Amino acid sequence: MLMIVRGARLYAGDGRVAPGLVDVEVAEGGHIARVVPYDDQREPPGTGTLVEAHGALLSAPFVEPHIHLDTALTAGEPRPNASGTLWEGIACWSERKQSLTREDVIGRATEVLRWQAAQGVLHVRTHCDVTDDRLVALDALAEVRDRVRDVLTLQIVAFPQEGIVSYPGGEKLLREAIARGADVVGAIPHFEDTREDGVASLNLAFALAERHGLRVDAHCDEIDDEQSRFVEVLAALALRSGLRERATASHTTAMGSYNGAYSYKLQRLLARSGVNLVANPFANLNLQGRFDGYPKRRGLTQVKEMLAAGVNVAFGHDDVMDPWNALGTGNPLQTALLGLYAAQLTGADEIPTAFAMITDRAAAVLGITEEYGIRPGCPADFMLLPAESPAEAVRRQVRPRYVISRGRLLAHTPDAPTQLGWPGEEPAEVDFTRRTGQRS
Ligand code: FE2
Repeated sequence: MLMIVRGARLYAGDGRVAPGLVDVEVAEGGHIARVVPYDDQREPPGTGTLVEAHGALLSAPFVEPHIHLDTALTAGEPRPNASGTLWEGIACWSERKQSLTREDVIGRATEVLRWQAAQGVLHVRTHCDVTDDRLVALDALAEVRDRVRDVLTLQIVAFPQEGIVSYPGGEKLLREAIARGADVVGAIPHFEDTREDGVASLNLAFALAERHGLRVDAHCDEIDDEQSRFVEVLAALALRSGLRERATASHTTAMGSYNGAYSYKLQRLLARSGVNLVANPFANLNLQGRFDGYPKRRGLTQVKEMLAAGVNVAFGHDDVMDPWNALGTGNPLQTALLGLYAAQLTGADEIPTAFAMITDRAAAVLGITEEYGIRPGCPADFMLLPAESPAEAVRRQVRPRYVISRGRLLAHTPDAPTQLGWPGEEPAEVDFTRRTGQRS
């Protein structure tokens, strides 16, 4: 036995917590051997590690379904995004990528992955701009994927930032990126020159995914234009090709501007198609609505409505200190907090759903649900959060006390209580876990 985690509260998926406390046994090979009811006498045999959970929340790791590791940590290079628009961000990046080097990309991507791992993220899907004749970032990220393989899983999306059909050589570059090992085929239909180019780009992305046995994840309708309706094309292709839940539409912010009749039609199509949606609240709130006066749109897709329609929706961080977002540490609990406010998922039943959107719902986007979870046979990838529920973890923005990867202790954040010297009282520890209405 490699490790026993004793006395944990078990996150059971879909925002729920299993009743009672459990012990989790990790076998020598780094996978979960048993999940059994809590026994305070249980000890690991031999030299195994004993981790006392003291009722902390044990969850499979956070999953980042949408980030851009190739652009991360380039904010202000070569110039700041002065207007704050998506379009100027793309222009800034287009200039910055001329100076990309292998070392540059590996260094920045690895730095952010270290931040993520320290915060409990052990599964990451990164988009990688492949509208670059040299494909420097793609090769570098493939190298990073190999280097971190023993710690976390990294999926790379071949993302044509400047288009497939309307960018010179775009299709050839996309094909080359797939040949060089991209895991997922990307697209950006709303950025293509015409509606027809956008549809053609999605047809091409799906054809390539089918041919190579890959998934699709398109930046889709990331614009406030209510006429941008490529998500229906993506869903129809997913349905007809059979790719279904292997396809994801990211952003889909135009959905925030669709009328009621069209939204109703779309909900039905998306639910039937099985496609995933990824909303990225940092980027969406920051970049959308920039051309509006007042009233100013929220810029998010229909998160609440699509969840109610049975569509899998996840939250992604998207950008970390790049031309589209100057801030960020890659912390999914920040994403969830921002996302639940932006989408008004603030009901008592809805807040735990926001936690699911950065764990099990995000795992479904990556297609890793079979090996994801706290179950016998799964890799021993998990985290202990100092909170008694998913909602508490989101509310208090806790950092995992322990992050375990493949049965090995990867990160440890000791609790750091705050001492408050309230007037007339001895300094005392502040207990942020107290609930509304609780009185001393
Ligand atoms: Fe993105």
